[in-house]
Amino acid sequence: MKDEKQGNPRHVAIIMDGNGRWAQAQGLPRALGHKAGMESLRSIVEACPDLGIEYLTVYAFSTENWKRPRLEIEALMRLMSEYIDSELDRLNRKGVSIRILGDIQPIPAALRSKVEGAVAMTSGNQGLRFSIALNYGGRQDILQAAQALAKRALHGEDPDRWTEEDLQKCLYTGDMPDPDLMIRTGGDLRISNFLLWQLAYSELWTTSTYWPDFTPEHLAGAIQDYCGRQRRFGGI
Ligand code: IPE
Ligand code: IPE
Ligand code: MG
Repeated sequence: MKDEKQGNPRHVAIIMDGNGRWAQAQGLPRALGHKAGMESLRSIVEACPDLGIEYLTVYAFSTENWKRPRLEIEALMRLMSEYIDSELDRLNRKGVSIRILGDIQPIPAALRSKVEGAVAMTSGNQGLRFSIALNYGGRQDILQAAQALAKRALHGEDPDRWTEEDLQKCLYTGDMPDPDLMIRTGGDLRISNFLLWQLAYSELWTTSTYWPDFTPEHLAGAIQDYCGRQRRFGGI
């Protein structure tokens, strides 16, 4: 039997890496790399609907990124705030629905309320499901899901009856399909605590291109590559 080819991926997840090296390679401060990275994000979000993508999930800030110098963290938070200011109306008009994956309590209050406003404003939209992983860690995601289940056990549920689906529903991505395709830019071949549970059977695609240089053409190339693969999910 001829191999079945994939349809386009419904859910694409991206580790947007390489901003700092992109800037350093040009003798610029790292913060300018993050600024250029925001421009890339703008064009990638825009390109998704034409490529048949229903869910786009991007890694914006990890639970480990707090280890960075304070000034870099501040620059990142400021840029995210500017991104929402400049993009929200446009995204909303295009029917994009924004959601956040991660624990945003530790995020500075001004950005947090902006983010919450963006989520509330776009929650009824039926276009691209755009998830931003912000103070997100795959292990923390699984931990908070386990904690949610443990509370149910305290209310009398029997843990022996739980299935993988019960845990899956408690993840930040609870009502979303798993990523079909996970892209990492910047050349490193690792997951860096991104969607650990959700990536179990995702196809991986990496490029040495730094995120600020990543264009919709690169994305289309990744999708074309994906479409030529055979996913087996453990079968034959
Ligand atoms: C990704 O770019 C953006 C964030 C992690 C917030 P980096 O800042 O990690 O860039 P490199 O990997 O140092 O080049
Ligand atoms: C992953 O990139 C996190 C984001 C892109 C937000 P990192 O640059 O933090 O990952 P490591 O440290 O190289 O693994
Ligand atoms: Mg990096």
